[in-house]
Amino acid sequence: MTISQERNLHTQPLDVPSAIVQRRSIKSFKPDAIAPELLRRLVELTVAAPSSYNIQDWRIVLVQDDAQKQALCEASWNQQQVIQAPVTFVFAADSTAGEGDLTPIYEQGISSGAWTEGTVEYFKTAIPQHQAGLGDKRREYAIKDAVIAAVHLTLAAESLGLSTCYMNGWIEEKVKAVIGAENDPNLAIALLIPVGYAAEPRKNPGRLPFSANVFVDRMGNPYEG
Ligand SMILES: Cc1cc2nc3c(=O)[nH]c(=O)nc-3n(C[C@H](O)[C@H](O)[C@H](O)COP(=O)(O)O)c2cc1C
Repeated sequence: MTISQERNLHTQPLDVPSAIVQRRSIKSFKPDAIAPELLRRLVELTVAAPSSYNIQDWRIVLVQDDAQKQALCEASWNQQQVIQAPVTFVFAADSTAGEGDLTPIYEQGISSGAWTEGTVEYFKTAIPQHQAGLGDKRREYAIKDAVIAAVHLTLAAESLGLSTCYMNGWIEEKVKAVIGAENDPNLAIALLIPVGYAAEPRKNPGRLPFSANVFVDRMGNPYEG
């Protein structure tokens, strides 16, 4: 186990505001592996994310194999983070998940005490109706859920001493081919997120003042803080 892995297993996680402030998009990673128990914790915290009707329509692929990383790098305009980081999370989204068999989700909702039989009966009608009503927005809605999970990952990773980089720079068809989904028209790629130990820090490029893009009640009425 390397020093950074050892340190991360024993240090106190950063609180959420600190993780938000400290997180940067890291472009170069050390080759150090992530300890299996730490990776498992990251996955747990990622899938703790909420989703519409709790359908959990993200499909997450952990790309770790060297040949797979090379292929993913080529699908991502040769961005080297994907090669350097020990693992890249590919966040995909199944836009048909709400039309599938949701029995395990209903059963968990009931056994946890979160949902009643009545809630589940309602969902059995409401979810298909909602899906049908989405029409060509089904993909967009599935991607929302996957992106929320990805945000959970980046903040959890930061909190636990790891770094990440949000990545939109890739060709969807090529990423799908790498993860073996080239024949699934309903699977959309949402984001790629390499995770690992930063090789070098990056500075915060800064954010606009609230008045530029935060409003009160209506657009054009800037929030001044
Ligand atoms: C949706 C999204 C896509 C991004 N895609 C890439 C990418 O493909 N490659 C990259 O190096 N950085 C990418 N970034 C990182 C941004 O450049 C970075 O978030 C931004 O400059 C702000 O820096 P910060 O993340 O350190 O706060 C992306 C960020 C977001 C949110």
